[in-house]
Amino acid sequence: MTTRWHEGFGTTAGIRCFFASGRVNLLGAHLDYNGGYVLPCAIDRGTYLMIALRTDGRVRLASLNDDHPHESPLEELDHPADDADHAWVNYPLGVIHFLQERGLEVSGIDILIGGDLPIGAGLSSSASLELVTAYGVTRAFGDETSLEDLVDLCRHAENEFVGVHCGIMDQYASGFGKRDHLLFLDCKTLERQYIPFPGDRVILAVTDSRKKRELVDGRFNERVAQCREALHILSRRLPHVSVLRDVARDELEAHRDALSLPVYKRARHVVTECERILHGVEVAKALDFVSLGAMLTKSHESSRDDYEVSCEELDFLVDQSTTLQGVHGSRLTGAGFGGCVVSVMDTGTEGTFRHEIERRYTARFGIEPTVQFFHAWGGPQEIDLARVPGDA
Ligand code: GLA
Repeated sequence: MTTRWHEGFGTTAGIRCFFASGRVNLLGAHLDYNGGYVLPCAIDRGTYLMIALRTDGRVRLASLNDDHPHESPLEELDHPADDADHAWVNYPLGVIHFLQERGLEVSGIDILIGGDLPIGAGLSSSASLELVTAYGVTRAFGDETSLEDLVDLCRHAENEFVGVHCGIMDQYASGFGKRDHLLFLDCKTLERQYIPFPGDRVILAVTDSRKKRELVDGRFNERVAQCREALHILSRRLPHVSVLRDVARDELEAHRDALSLPVYKRARHVVTECERILHGVEVAKALDFVSLGAMLTKSHESSRDDYEVSCEELDFLVDQSTTLQGVHGSRLTGAGFGGCVVSVMDTGTEGTFRHEIERRYTARFGIEPTVQFFHAWGGPQEIDLARVPGDA
């Protein structure tokens, strides 16, 4: 990264580097924007940001994944850049815009982005980009805004600037990760608990199907709209319901006729996924990873059948991985519609897993999946320039 920095920006003084993790979610698929629970962890891969301050009121943004740097005056950040080929710039620009709106005086900045997360594969490369920008820019200007506020601002930037109606999970997981722990978050109250996930016993395999997630934003927003419709109808009949997670299974069944079939199925996923995650957290606290894994696989089935966000490739990976020794369970991670499957498995069984999954998937789809192994990791941090990864 440093070579690219010098080529692009030339400056050498006052450069700092920050890192924020991507995430996987083990249970609680599509529950965050329904006021439900989620059980993600930050992972030991993510986004790096090198930053230096300027005094001319301009922002220059570059990425190792894009040959065309972006430059604009900071006072013109009130709308997204209209450039589909470089849409990534709107994530950091949105964050910088809302930081300025909240009163941070930004005199000008150079930023270079790099990272070791597959982009757009369901590991939250976007939230880690937002978090590392919020954390790096505030800290570089000597501002100590709390992580809670930065997480909130990043989600706001994604909703209002980028235009994806995501819930709070991704930003929260990246902001509040803890090494060797899962994060159990109540998205209605924002209460959080850490659950041990010891790396010497269990490890996460993430298999990228390399099936491109098509039209994700539109289909994601459609699911959000269907859940809002369910909430609108059910809350008029059930006064205690303020978010979809408040609906009990028998209440949903009692009012089933008021909902169209797709809307009923989305609501059924939400209600049953809440039950699965509450059970999953109890077994995880007892370090019972076999039972936790079984909940992941059930969650996948509900995401496939009721929420309808899976695809043939992801179903195949779940079916095949759960036949392997040492694998406790698997499910799609992220929004779905392609991307990755996460498996909870015993540490030490990585070699067989990689070999078998690559072999079986390639035989079936004629394309080799990418298998990576992750540990649960910590929140955003400043890192020494000497530890910045090399130029990819
Ligand atoms: C995406 C969104 C999250 C969450 C998941 C589904 O990753 O950004 O907020 O809704 O999908 O669980």
